[in-house]
Amino acid sequence: MIVVEPILLELPQIGINLNASLRNIEKSEPYMHDGRFTSLNQCLEHYNSGIVASPTLETQLVGGIPLTPQNKADLIAFLKTLTDTKYLTDTRFSDNNF
Ligand code: HEM
Repeated sequence: MIVVEPILLELPQIGINLNASLRNIEKSEPYMHDGRFTSLNQCLEHYNSGIVASPTLETQLVGGIPLTPQNKADLIAFLKTLTDTKYLTDTRFSDNNF
């Protein structure tokens, strides 16, 4: 199983239920609501070592999500498969149309 927040996907489901907000995630830095991260690697390092304990934190997230360098490389490779170059370069969706 692979975790793609905010939903859990079984591998056979990939391509069917992907959260649309992850499309072009490789190209949509800075990340998070306040733009604190400039790279996907920083995002993953946050899950690995930056999660702050609090009384309301989901117990599964206490201690973070342990990610090896290989895990992070694999996740980033996966997220990059969601890059849609055709969409990015389609003039129908360019700023010039606003
Ligand atoms: C290893 C698994 C995960 C990966 C690869 C991942 C990846 C990401 C990335 C790249 C972003 C930035 C999105 C953006 O700025 O457009 C993000 C944001 C977010 N993720 Fe995850 N995530 C993971 C696990 C989780 C989990 C387990 C949760 C919840 C329990 C979660 C909840 C969120 C939330 C709420 C945000 C938005 C935070 C903000 O805007 O400040 N993620 N995630």
